[in-house]
Amino acid sequence: MFAGAAAPPRFVERTPLAIDVRTMSVTVVIGSQWGDEGKGKLVDLLSGDIDIVARYQGGANAGHTIRWGDKEFVLHLLPSGIFRPGVVCVVGNGVVIDPVALLDEIRTVREMGYDVEGRLMISHKAHLIMPYHKAIERAREHARDAGAIGTTGRGIGPAYVDKFARTGVRVVDLLDRDVLRKKLTASIAEKNAILGRVYDADELNVERIIEEYVEFDKVIDPYVTDTSNYLNRALKMGRDVLAEGAQGSLLDVDFGTYPFVTSSHPTAGGACTGLGIPPTSIRRVIGVVKAYCTRVGNGPFPTELTCDVGERLRRVGAEFGATTGRPRRCGWLDLVALRYTSMINGFTDLAITKLDVLSGVDPIRICTQYSHGGKTNMRFPTETKTLAAVEPVYTTMPGWPEDVCGVREIDMLPDAARNMVQLVASFVGVDVCMISTGPRRSETVMARIAA
Ligand code: IMP
Repeated sequence: MFAGAAAPPRFVERTPLAIDVRTMSVTVVIGSQWGDEGKGKLVDLLSGDIDIVARYQGGANAGHTIRWGDKEFVLHLLPSGIFRPGVVCVVGNGVVIDPVALLDEIRTVREMGYDVEGRLMISHKAHLIMPYHKAIERAREHARDAGAIGTTGRGIGPAYVDKFARTGVRVVDLLDRDVLRKKLTASIAEKNAILGRVYDADELNVERIIEEYVEFDKVIDPYVTDTSNYLNRALKMGRDVLAEGAQGSLLDVDFGTYPFVTSSHPTAGGACTGLGIPPTSIRRVIGVVKAYCTRVGNGPFPTELTCDVGERLRRVGAEFGATTGRPRRCGWLDLVALRYTSMINGFTDLAITKLDVLSGVDPIRICTQYSHGGKTNMRFPTETKTLAAVEPVYTTMPGWPEDVCGVREIDMLPDAARNMVQLVASFVGVDVCMISTGPRRSETVMARIAA
């Protein structure tokens, strides 16, 4: 259990990174909440010390914001190591690739002066997002009306449905025009029937889609390879790999707040299946925890704040979707949910982000139990109805008036801020290895706070 709000922080070591990612193995970076925890910044930061960054799931639904110097970029598909020359970036088999989004991103990154030749690898097993995936998603969400999931509209769900229905189109299929034509003709006939008859939506043209995807193949061909083979060879040679998850654990299709989830596995197991690496190669699992909670899209959110405090978090934290621009729902930090995602993922370290956003919020509340049906406990419910009905039980802590934006030394953080970080570490039973105090690489406290 946790040591209590007033317990003084215990700082056991301080290394430049406060975390050793040079383990000749895999470090996985995972969102511990509903996504948008600031994984992009952390991956970018750690990739200064790493050989390979590999994205393992999701698609262009992700928006990983990276800021350095006066530059800012939102990555959707390319791994967040792409702005570190010399770092190899892998798009794994678990990712669903939207060709238009990928080509656009490659072009922009190049225009910014970053070379991707020889250091971008795309799995030939990755599935492709087709125009009909977006069309079906649009039609389905529209038909669901009030029960809509609130997806990003990037065709992610329907693409994974086709993958598991064994009717998907993979990158490798682009190599053979005849195979591509056969697959697409069958698929589009079925999709057109669904679009036309079920959703009364416009049908799609097979030939146009084939032409478009053949053109795409010409551009991505140099990057396509057997990435699983590459990663396993690299690990044998003692290279360090950072596996980058998208979205967050509470959006995992099995362990998240189903059905209000994404259609892949952001949790740790997804790194193995999404990259083709063995579980035994994983040495560290870093859970990225925003100092408060946010959620985009629909679904239960026990600590949601619909008052001024929520509005303030949204404004100060610039909580608007990096992909869709939608305002994010904001709420207090939920340690019941965090303990649950820590259990599922086996976090070895926690990285706290956006601590600076809480400056001036007083008091700060942190959910440490749920109350439901007259009972309180720390169980994260499976049923949507129960999760929507629980009342959060809060531990109240004093806030801090000081602006901590850009603070880099743990000693420069106010006691109240350190106490909050200590509470998180102690409650979850996992060390905090990093605290982010601003969006830039340099705005980071590298210290280890023991659980
Ligand atoms: P989809 O992944 O577009 O199918 O959307 C399913 C749910 O996941 C929706 O609630 C989305 O808002 C949410 N979601 C998808 N990607 C992200 C992300 O990168 N950050 C936060 N939420 C996301």
